[in-house]
Amino acid sequence: MLELPRVIGHRGAKSHAPENTLASIRLAHAQGARWVEVDVKLTADGAPILMHDDRVERTTDGQGAVREMTLAELRRLDAGRWFSAEYAGERVPTLEEFLDLAAGLGLGINLEIKPCAGREGETARTALETARRYWRGGLPVLVSSFAVESLEAAMAVAPDWPRGYLMDEEAPDWRAVADRLAAATINVNAKRQTAETVAAYRATGRPVLCYTVNDPERARVLLDWGVSAVFTDAPREMLAGLGA
Ligand code: G3P
Ligand code: MG
Repeated sequence: MLELPRVIGHRGAKSHAPENTLASIRLAHAQGARWVEVDVKLTADGAPILMHDDRVERTTDGQGAVREMTLAELRRLDAGRWFSAEYAGERVPTLEEFLDLAAGLGLGINLEIKPCAGREGETARTALETARRYWRGGLPVLVSSFAVESLEAAMAVAPDWPRGYLMDEEAPDWRAVADRLAAATINVNAKRQTAETVAAYRATGRPVLCYTVNDPERARVLLDWGVSAVFTDAPREMLAGLGA
């Protein structure tokens, strides 16, 4: 049984540090988060790295598509200065660096497989083969994705690691997909939830996780409906707001 905390740091502590960087992971931990979520995709030369977008412009000082840049090219970029001068010099982390840091901090992790289009299977396979080799943390790794093909690949490569079925708009056949993937959790957009939708997900016996919740009052409502955990950009404020 997966033991989830109520609060999971989203891309680390996205409100307070540049998302998906090691600094953001350290800060989430310092703010009291026990788990963090990060986004994983592949470079042109097939290295798993942490990044949300398909392109680097928003979160680095570079230009281009991640799928067309080598790891060496990506590593030259500054992934912190766009956020604030305090974080200048932060790099785009490799998945190995992230795993090493998270294990050292004793964090639980949710690897969201965030493939560029057409690389759904490959991204999950490479990321999870790497994670199987490097992960030294005591807690299980929750593997999630919006891409069903990535979750199918995850099931083949890491069958014993729990899978989170991520949805934005509810898929009409979500029950069948969740069953086929043997999904351990249902991870859904907080904005779309009602007491009824949460009850329907929970009725399948799966914990429900909601992204992205930065208002503790909204988190309280969701938790009251039976949601197990919220992904938040601001772990400190969320934990304080929930009285945790
Ligand atoms: O895994 C929860 C959440 O991160 C999914 O959406 O776009 O923030 O990666 P996104
Ligand atoms: Mg994500």
